[in-house]
Amino acid sequence: MAGVVFLVLLCISAGTMVGVRGEDPYLFFTWNVTYGTLSPLGVPQQVILINNQFPGPNINSTSNNNIVINVFNNLDEPFLLTWSGIQQRKNSWQDGVLGTNCPILPGTNFTYHFQVKDQIGSYFYYPTTGMHRTAGGFGGLRINSRLLIPVPYADPEDDYTVILNDWYTKSHTALQKLLDSGRTLARPDGVLVNGKNAMGDGKDEPLFTMKPGKTYKYRICNAGLKNTLNFRIQGHTMKLVEMEGSHVVQNVYESLDVHVGQCFSVLVTANQDPKDYYMVASTRFNKQVLTGKGIIRYTNGKDPASPELPEAPVGWAWSLNQFRSFRWNLTASAARPNPQGSYHYGSINITRTIKLINSASQEGGKLRYALNGVSHVNPETPLKLAEYYGSRRQGVQV
Ligand SMILES: *[C@@H]1O[C@H](CO)[C@@H](O)[C@H](O)[C@H]1NC(C)=O
Ligand SMILES: *[C@@H]1O[C@H](CO)[C@@H](O)[C@H](O)[C@H]1NC(C)=O
Ligand SMILES: *[C@@H]1O[C@H](CO)[C@@H](O)[C@H](O)[C@H]1NC(C)=O
Ligand SMILES: *[C@@H]1O[C@H](CO)[C@@H](O)[C@H](O)[C@H]1NC(C)=O
Ligand SMILES: *[C@@H]1O[C@H](CO)[C@@H](O)[C@H](O)[C@H]1NC(C)=O
Repeated sequence: MAGVVFLVLLCISAGTMVGVRGEDPYLFFTWNVTYGTLSPLGVPQQVILINNQFPGPNINSTSNNNIVINVFNNLDEPFLLTWSGIQQRKNSWQDGVLGTNCPILPGTNFTYHFQVKDQIGSYFYYPTTGMHRTAGGFGGLRINSRLLIPVPYADPEDDYTVILNDWYTKSHTALQKLLDSGRTLARPDGVLVNGKNAMGDGKDEPLFTMKPGKTYKYRICNAGLKNTLNFRIQGHTMKLVEMEGSHVVQNVYESLDVHVGQCFSVLVTANQDPKDYYMVASTRFNKQVLTGKGIIRYTNGKDPASPELPEAPVGWAWSLNQFRSFRWNLTASAARPNPQGSYHYGSINITRTIKLINSASQEGGKLRYALNGVSHVNPETPLKLAEYYGSRRQGVQV
């Protein structure tokens, strides 16, 4: 144990030697990660809070901002956060993935530094340690365009983040025990919209409000575990404006299939009767459909949301066809990996084909998932530590 603490101390001091340089503005955050008790599906359960919030705080940043987040781990287990979709994390100390990063030990803190360089769009962060993501610790991360960069739509009245999750009422430790005893996680117990599921008993507090006639940006992310979620808003259409960091051709959708890890930015205009409306997220591709709801309220509205929910699409084909309708807007501003057209995808000759096959099997009585028969095992020496001491060839398991 003393050895582990020693290694991690070395790890932390090595990690903090690399600072963030540059003249771009800085955003500083201090986050306190703790357990709390909430009842998102009506049953009290342990959740992971950041600064007492579930989901965690939104990071509202602008392209090229330097972000500094001092994370205090007050859980009883090691903890790490990753910044999904952020391309430039300065260096791999900021990745937040076990195996490259040392976890933040209970009772200690670690400061992430990264720059959201040349990026725009909607993203989210989440814990990568153990089953923590099933308990919380996730939240939205938005990158606004700098003022001098034109955006292909008018400034919305406000900007809302919607984090969707399939959700278990079992604690993350109970879920881990299931896998460790060779069993599966089975089906989730419900779907959450920003950590809640509206009961429809007239007492639901709205998650968002809209002024009549105004247009709002909603950033919708699926931070869940297993299920694609179909997202729709009663009586309203959504104009898709951004996905995966790029402005897109602005098609209008009645619903969107949001796959695990995906985010979309859409515009919604408050052009219906002034009352409450449900946002609905329901699981796809399973016989048993789980549904989560959240309330949007018109500021001049009086009536509750209609209990009649908009129907979800059925089948895989619908989802594939919807995906085919997404197109980059090639004339809009965006950070792009490389000049438009220079890849000439259609004319590249295939020289090698790699198949990835997923599987599940028992390993010493535990259930483990694998790609091409290989499952993740944490190396005995964290990779970054091995790199720091140049001991790559001395018995480090990769
Ligand atoms: C974090 O929260 C815990 C529990 O509320 C509290 O005891 C602790 O002082 C807080 N730490 C920081 C750094 O705010
Ligand atoms: C987010 O940051 C932008 C740019 O600093 C600011 O204009 C906007 O008001 C912020 N939005 C929220 C919801 O904090
Ligand atoms: C831990 O927090 C303290 C107090 O804010 C700060 O001075 C220190 O740099 C942090 N340590 C790490 C490793 O981030
Ligand atoms: C693409 O972006 C340009 C530049 O902002 C805009 O004028 C145009 O309307 C957009 N096209 C579509 C199809 O969304
Ligand atoms: C692909 O192969 C064909 C036939 O060998 C060749 O003519 C062509 O130049 C190759 N294309 C590229 C992009 O290498």
